[in-house]
Amino acid sequence: MKILVTGGAGFIGGNFVYYLLGKYPEDKVVCVDKLTYAGNLETLEEALKDPRFTFYKADITDRRAIDGIFDKERPDAVVNFAAESHVDRSISNPSVFLKTNILGTQVLLDACRKYGTARYHQVSTDEVYGDLPLDRPDLFFTEQTPLHTSSPYSASKASADLLVLAYFRTYGTPVTISRCSNNYGPYHFPEKLIPLMITSALGGRPLPVYGTGANVRDWLYVEDHCSAIDLIVRKGRVGEVYNVGGHNEKTNLEVVQTIVSILGKGEIVYVKDRAGHDLRYAIDPTKIRNELGWEPVTRFDDGIRRTVDWYLTHKEWWEHILSGSYMKYYKKMYGSGR
Ligand code: NAD
Ligand code: TYD
Repeated sequence: MKILVTGGAGFIGGNFVYYLLGKYPEDKVVCVDKLTYAGNLETLEEALKDPRFTFYKADITDRRAIDGIFDKERPDAVVNFAAESHVDRSISNPSVFLKTNILGTQVLLDACRKYGTARYHQVSTDEVYGDLPLDRPDLFFTEQTPLHTSSPYSASKASADLLVLAYFRTYGTPVTISRCSNNYGPYHFPEKLIPLMITSALGGRPLPVYGTGANVRDWLYVEDHCSAIDLIVRKGRVGEVYNVGGHNEKTNLEVVQTIVSILGKGEIVYVKDRAGHDLRYAIDPTKIRNELGWEPVTRFDDGIRRTVDWYLTHKEWWEHILSGSYMKYYKKMYGSGR
């Protein structure tokens, strides 16, 4: 199988590239990434040495470039991770979220139609369901939960999901969608909660907790997300949405305190809350478990220790991000700037 992965220089896409190359010796992986501030080619350093891997620096909203790549590569499946993904940035600058997350999805769907791609998979988020109250632990997001978004980020992801399902209904495009809870693990960009707290504690900077830290997220180790997407792409029913999550709810304060206790350092400071801050996310993964037999394998206690260890042993990776020097990697490798 030849799989085109968009956003493969980002956190989850990068992990997915390694998951595929490790699990399927016969498969080829084509990566398309614009290398925005969140894309880091150093993440793909090992993959770039593999003859089964090809990298294109391209914007998913650039129809000519995308059609050209499809024409040349003729992928069997497309997995779309490429997105603007940070809620806080969507609050200060929504435009690029609408462009990449919605119009970029349209360009990819059109290319799939044009080139008869056998499967298009949209990597979506549980944030499309809005939030759940903190005092109702019995409530979970199912695939039937109405879309009810809070931030420009989640609104753009929900819009893209609707477009994906419209292409299935209108044109019969063979699509699937996964809606996953918060991921953590290696290669996570250090502006998101967990890597920000680890790298800040190591650098002697304060750990900024929004509001009181009572907001709840449902954390899933990134490899478990990769295994779910892989199963959906190969065995999922077209036209279907699958929720992905491992019943791992933690308050933000619990997560930050766990990191502080593993590292033995870190000073928590409470800062102004995020505007429109979602209270609680919690996934009901019954459908993917019953239909596809998916189960997460990494418990939070193990996953968070592994993640902290990864940041301790890969200081160069995140120090290059903090210093900005990772932006020069593409130029060094390929000779042209960005
Ligand atoms: P990320 O921000 O780490 O990576 C996004 C990647 O997309 C980067 O490499 C970036 O360069 C690339 N990109 C951005 N705009 C592009 C464009 N116009 N053209 C081509 N490439 C572009 O994000 P992530 O955390 O890895 O998330 C990946 C996907 O998973 C996103 O669609 C996100 O909505 C979804 N998701 C993330 C989480 C999470 O916890 N991180 C949870 C559920 C779903
Ligand atoms: P984040 O990693 O941005 O993911 P998302 O908003 O998509 O869930 O944030 C996770 C939670 O951590 C969220 O409730 C906001 C909170 N948070 C902080 O308290 N401090 C921070 O510096 C950041 C980035 C997030």
